[in-house]
Amino acid sequence: MKVVMASNNAHKIAELRAILSAYGLDVVSQREAGVHVEPEETGTTFEENSRIKAVAVMQACGLPAVADDSGLMVDALNGEPGVYSARYGGPDCISDSDRINYLLKKLENVPEGKRTAKFVSVITLVTPDGKEIVARGECPGRILHEVHGSNGFGYDPVFYVPEQGKTFAELSPEEKNAISHRARALQAFCRIYQEELEHDNK
Ligand code: IMP
Repeated sequence: MKVVMASNNAHKIAELRAILSAYGLDVVSQREAGVHVEPEETGTTFEENSRIKAVAVMQACGLPAVADDSGLMVDALNGEPGVYSARYGGPDCISDSDRINYLLKKLENVPEGKRTAKFVSVITLVTPDGKEIVARGECPGRILHEVHGSNGFGYDPVFYVPEQGKTFAELSPEEKNAISHRARALQAFCRIYQEELEHDNK
């Protein structure tokens, strides 16, 4: 089954394609499918935003579509930046490093034990005949007081994972991909998809 990913991010598409091909899903990018929609992410949850993106692409091309939405949730900030992770700090924050500094300033007086956080990823598949699969993955950690490491992107340099004893930015891409919120959402997605396939074949 051909599935259009609501993204043109080559890295994300390659990751999804590699894993989902084992389930008979042929993942193509929006561009490859000739879809040029860029829906506004107006939702207040990762579930809403990933569904908005998947539905927009599915409606534009009439094919099954898959989308993901992700971000960082910090407990001491009541779950901020959450779905606003990419635009945290508003127009004054242009780069990842601006957004990290904005976050660290907000957490300036928050002590070690209260700096817990998690990365969240939600993957949604929708099909023209009304099928819908939603899978969520989370990776717990905590926010350091300063940056460590130079791999990855976004908030990786301040996101410390206790089990690894490192930040996401100190892990190799392979190490991060083994434990990340996105990897966990994808595993959950595959589990649900497999169950549905088995159910449909009964
Ligand atoms: P998107 O869902 O890929 O658009 O990601 C939303 C935003 O969440 C990104 O722009 C980053 O700020 C943040 N984010 C999501 N996943 C990660 C990650 O693995 N590392 C660091 N930041 C992330």
